Amino acid sequence: MQDTFGKMLKRVARLGSLSDLDDVIKSSSILLKNTANIRWALVYFFDRERHDFAPARGYGLPQRYIRLFENTPLHPDKLPILKSMLLKKQHLLITDAGASDMVHPAFRKLLSGLTLLAVPMVARDQVLGTVFVARHASLPPYTEKGIELIKDMASNAAISVSHMRLYDETLDTAINLAKRVDTILTLDEINKAISSSLSRYKIFEKAIQGIEGIIPCAMVVIIQEERGEYFVTASHWKDESTPPLLRPDMRLSLFQSAAGNAMNNGKTHSVDTLGKIQKPGHLDRILSEAGIASLLAVPLVSRDKVKGVLMLGDRQPGGFAREETFVIEKIASQISVALENAKLYEDMRSLFINTVSSLANAIDAKSPWTKGHSERVMNIAADIAREMGLSELFVEQIKIAGLLHDIGKIGILEALLEKPDKISDEEFPPMRLHPEKGVAILSPIQQLQEVLPAIRHHHERYDGGGYPDGLKGEEIPLQARIVAVADAFDAMVSERPYKKGYTMQKALKVIEKGAGSQFDPVVVDCFRNRVAGNLTLSMK
Ligand SMILES: [Fe+2]
Repeated sequence: MQDTFGKMLKRVARLGSLSDLDDVIKSSSILLKNTANIRWALVYFFDRERHDFAPARGYGLPQRYIRLFENTPLHPDKLPILKSMLLKKQHLLITDAGASDMVHPAFRKLLSGLTLLAVPMVARDQVLGTVFVARHASLPPYTEKGIELIKDMASNAAISVSHMRLYDETLDTAINLAKRVDTILTLDEINKAISSSLSRYKIFEKAIQGIEGIIPCAMVVIIQEERGEYFVTASHWKDESTPPLLRPDMRLSLFQSAAGNAMNNGKTHSVDTLGKIQKPGHLDRILSEAGIASLLAVPLVSRDKVKGVLMLGDRQPGGFAREETFVIEKIASQISVALENAKLYEDMRSLFINTVSSLANAIDAKSPWTKGHSERVMNIAADIAREMGLSELFVEQIKIAGLLHDIGKIGILEALLEKPDKISDEEFPPMRLHPEKGVAILSPIQQLQEVLPAIRHHHERYDGGGYPDGLKGEEIPLQARIVAVADAFDAMVSERPYKKGYTMQKALKVIEKGAGSQFDPVVVDCFRNRVAGNLTLSMK
């Protein structure tokens, strides 16, 4: 007997280290059934939130009672033995349990002729559950050792459960912490990425990439208000193509929609099940038809005004978690700040462009017969640059160069006022100084440093016969080689008081003839390919 108990105790001790709860309970039950003539055993876990004992596992229970067991939680308030077990953490033995009012009435028939032992599962001084074991009343009563053994089993099972819960909790906490750290790092990355972007589209692109990295969702749409109307400014759909009505630049009605609500109230609006909304507005209906079930609309607020809405949608109903909403609100406020900065930058840039245009107009004012020349050179030069596949930054710079290429004529034109019939460089030598004078006028302006070479060298010839420096071929800055072609073409087709303008075809022929001598042949090729075609079309 001693040996048997020793073996059992060893096996019991092992139970505490088993990691799988089912194994723990199953092993305990088999052990009890084989050694203590237990007829059946029931395990309940105490649910602290609901304050009841929830059925967990039943072993050896007659088939017809399994469903009853599984569907019957035990309330300590209704069963005094459980209440006292929670308080005293002690076991209880009920002989002739079928007749006892201490057991649940539904089980009395099952317990007829049985002795019931209720043992608490205690770990870390807390009752985690209880084990009921039943055996026939005709068997000899439990010995103290027998009861101790069952209590040890229950305690070991409890310790396992406790370890498992602790492990789960630790794991959950670790996962949550890791998620939070990841979210914070991603938020920081989004912030850096979008606050360093000065283009609206770059901001949207970076924000959407960031959102997708931390929050699983099927779509991200950004809507912005412009003069009382609403337009889609960014629309990204994960698995499918964007619905036609939600493509960028589409105008939308926000009437009776989640986005409209966020827009009007300046507060986040969340929809758990889009399909359940009675009479949805135009936008919500489009989203619902596109398969969106959960929706989050966060206002983009800048200087106390709602300027737009950031929307996230998912195909699963149930909405977005609170923490996700919080993160999206943070991203929305970063987007708002970045958009405000981008707008300030755009305003400053257009102020600068306007100033540059005024300077160019000043040239025209001095020489009315060349009116619009600078602007046309600007457009032709930009077209050539695009045709050559140059960057947008280059195109921006060459526009300014085109606009200002003759700015140096301002001072010289004063002297020409009395000689309107003589204007060309050949007929009036001081005119050859205008590139250098232009550089002198513009060089104090920090933002114009990049275009100074184009101003200085736009009268250089590809064969080296130009001025002011006689540069040759690739020595001439590319900006200047492009402006030279645009300038010569527009000068030829324009009417002057002393000459009739060439036809487009004739001017184009002269330019082509000058390829390799006056002009860069590559620039001439691109000019012919696209620009000449465009001009012919637009002049017809
Ligand atoms: Fe010029």
